Amino acid sequence: MSDSSKLTLDIDLGPTGLPRPDFPEPPALESHGPARVISMVNQKGGVGKTTSVINLGAALAEMGRKVLLVDLDPQGALSAGTGVNPYELDITVYNLLMDRSHDVHDVIQSTSTDDLDVLPANIDLSAAEVQLVNEVAREMALARVLRPVMDEYDVIIIDCQPSLGLLTVNALAASHGVIIPLEAEYFALRGVALLVETIEKVQDRINPRLDIDGILITMFDPRTLHAREVSQRVVEAFPDRVFRTTINRTVKFPDASVAAEPITSFASSTKGAESYRQLARELVARGCAA
Ligand SMILES: Nc1ncnc2c1ncn2[C@@H]1O[C@H](COP(=O)(O)OP(=O)(O)O)[C@@H](O)[C@H]1O
Ligand SMILES: [Mg+2]
Repeated sequence: MSDSSKLTLDIDLGPTGLPRPDFPEPPALESHGPARVISMVNQKGGVGKTTSVINLGAALAEMGRKVLLVDLDPQGALSAGTGVNPYELDITVYNLLMDRSHDVHDVIQSTSTDDLDVLPANIDLSAAEVQLVNEVAREMALARVLRPVMDEYDVIIIDCQPSLGLLTVNALAASHGVIIPLEAEYFALRGVALLVETIEKVQDRINPRLDIDGILITMFDPRTLHAREVSQRVVEAFPDRVFRTTINRTVKFPDASVAAEPITSFASSTKGAESYRQLARELVARGCAA
């Protein structure tokens, strides 16, 4: 075997079949804001939305970015996962959406991670979908809620519920970008066409600046051939949109959510923590975050 063919074989291909580049550590920011707003959306549940919001947010905060996480799922998993007890809250994002008299600063909570704040939700939010229908500019309620804090953060990440209803449309209307997490399993692509159609409708009718930042392959199991096949099909379907960073399946993620901590602090030196740090660097390298 010649040296050159050996060289080709040694290139580290990621599960997407594309080379895995190492993204540089971005420079520190000299000042903060205005925020770029990113929604984590997939109408399928259990694909890693909430996990990605928490851990991408924590990785960006570790890089010195000021980050706000917004819980827009009545299940409150993001709030619980960042150490907030959703049942002890008097006012949540629900009250901010429905009633202009509250100040968003009074609802935002800090977390155990520096520079990582959360705007919490609980089951109260399940009423918003129906109640907002009768409001004027019902798609713009979340954008209005976030306006007073836009200059205080570098990145705002919204955790959406598993539906394409009015709350998710509010998230898309308030966003600059969308990240679509896809579980590396058969049928992962089912429903993505409908999601892309919804995003295009929002671009067309209410928010022309909205971009699909990328598709994130999650829960990838390197031991199975089918996970690799699924990943390669996702790349075929969306050649320019798939993040080179992929997230492997590991029990550290459920363990970290039980501990209500990001993996970057719960298991700081693991591959799982490193992959969300790499995603944060990739996002900055692509111009999707400061
Ligand atoms: N990469 C991963 N490996 C293993 N388990 C994961 C991974 N990402 C998420 N999980 C677990 O899968 C479940 C669903 O993830 P979650 O982020 O809540 O999805 P969603 O918000 O899309 O419903 C949770 O129990 C979470 O801890
Ligand atoms: Mg979730």
